[in-house]
Order: sequence, then C-alpha cells, then structure tokens
Amino acid sequence: MRTKIVAGNWKMNKTLQETVTLINDLKNTVKPDNNVEIIVAPPYVNLVEAVNLLKDLPIKVSAQNMHFADNGAYTGEISAVMLKAIGVRTVILGHSERRAYFNETDEVLQKKAHKAYEKSMTNIFCVGEKLEEREAEKHFDVVKSQLSNTLFQLPMEAYKKIVIAYEPVWAIGTGHTATPEQAQEMHKFIRDTLAKKYGRDLADTVRILYGGSVKPGNAAEIFLKPDVDGGLIGGASLNAEDFNAIVEAAKS
Ligand code: PGA
Repeated sequence: MRTKIVAGNWKMNKTLQETVTLINDLKNTVKPDNNVEIIVAPPYVNLVEAVNLLKDLPIKVSAQNMHFADNGAYTGEISAVMLKAIGVRTVILGHSERRAYFNETDEVLQKKAHKAYEKSMTNIFCVGEKLEEREAEKHFDVVKSQLSNTLFQLPMEAYKKIVIAYEPVWAIGTGHTATPEQAQEMHKFIRDTLAKKYGRDLADTVRILYGGSVKPGNAAEIFLKPDVDGGLIGGASLNAEDFNAIVEAAKS
C-alpha cells in the first residue's frame, strides 16, 4: 500500500508576507492524516519561515531545486547542505521549467539526484514529454530515456527516498490536463520500466505523482487510477482551499 502524496510547487510565487498568509490559511484548512503526505515547496527565501511555521504539523517543506555540489564558486546556487541546515529534507529535481529555461540536462540532473541520495533527501524527480514528442508518439521513449540517464544510475537503496513525478510538459500551467487514462498509461509504463530495472518489489513501493493542471475538479478521478499515487500541484497550490480540496481528493 503506497501512501499518497500531494505536493504544492509554488514556483516563483509568494513574497515572505504572502507565504506566511498562505501557510496560515493552510493550517486553518488542511487536515493532515495518515492517508496522505502533504508537502509544500515555497521559493528559497521563504523556506526558513515555512519550516518554522509548519514545525508542529505533518506538512513537509521542500525546495524547488538545488545544486549538485556542497559549496563553492557557484554564484546564485543553493546546496543540499544548506537546505538540510534549515530543516528542509525534500527537493524537487528536474522540473520541466528547470530543464527548459535553465538548461538542466540529464547529465546535471543525474548529479543532483545523486547528491540528494548521498544526503538522504527525499527527491521528487520530474519526468515528462513535450507536446511535439507526444504527437510524434515518442512519449514513452522520452520518459524512459530521462529515467535511464538519471535515476537509473542510482542503486536500489536510493529509492527509499525517491518519488517520481510524471509531468507532461503540455499539461503544465495550460489547463489541458492529461486524461486519467493517459496518466495511468504512463504511470504504469514508468512502474513497469522500474520493475525491469530493479525488480517488481521495488517498483511497487515507489510513489509516482501526476502533475499538470491538477485542480479540485479533476484531482479525484486522476488519483483513483491504480498507478497514480498523488499529485504535484502548481497553480492550484497557491490557494489554500483549492489545495485542501486536492488533499481531500487524495484521501478518498
Ligand atoms: P500546474 O503545474 O499545476 O500549474 O499545471 C504543475 C507543476 O508544474 O508542477
């Protein structure tokens, strides 16, 4: 039995004051229980405050990215060591916006994934195809190669702290969510690919989240699919009521 996860990726949204407001709204709205793990990922500068505000609640705080080195001459970057020092033990890696706008390649992401493993951080690792790749029916090949070049370089043990997020690029922020069937088809493919590489027992334990225009109105039907273990939520995570509705959908 895999516990579902609902993770909110705030992206480059919310000032410090707005972060305090949203977290207080979440505290008043969301009812954490054992059926769903809840994670929020505010921008770096708001992480300390988020950790502080959520310290007594089972809502985890995640970073949206990190560098693969521990420290050094990497202007503008943040390391796993720094995140752990403020109590952040989860990181989103390989988001398609990082890949597209900041040129993150599989090679770089492999190093980041390795660092997350080395530092025992939970790694929410994103994969997903672009629209033209789906139209050319290359979506399975694209996702398989993203996995082979990155996570599949890691030992079995690393999967205790790996969560995979399938995020078709054409569904992110567009309002065009994948159908529950499209999500299930890819999630099953990812799980079967994991099983071929590491064995069925391991594959059955890895949580695979769907991301891309998940909203209160469509979350339940997507989460009902057998290989969908929750969601990585962008836009709808910026509003406590919407986020809570998605958390509730994951409980049922
Ligand atoms: P969206 O973003 O829910 O706004 O489509 C999802 C994501 O990028 O993680």
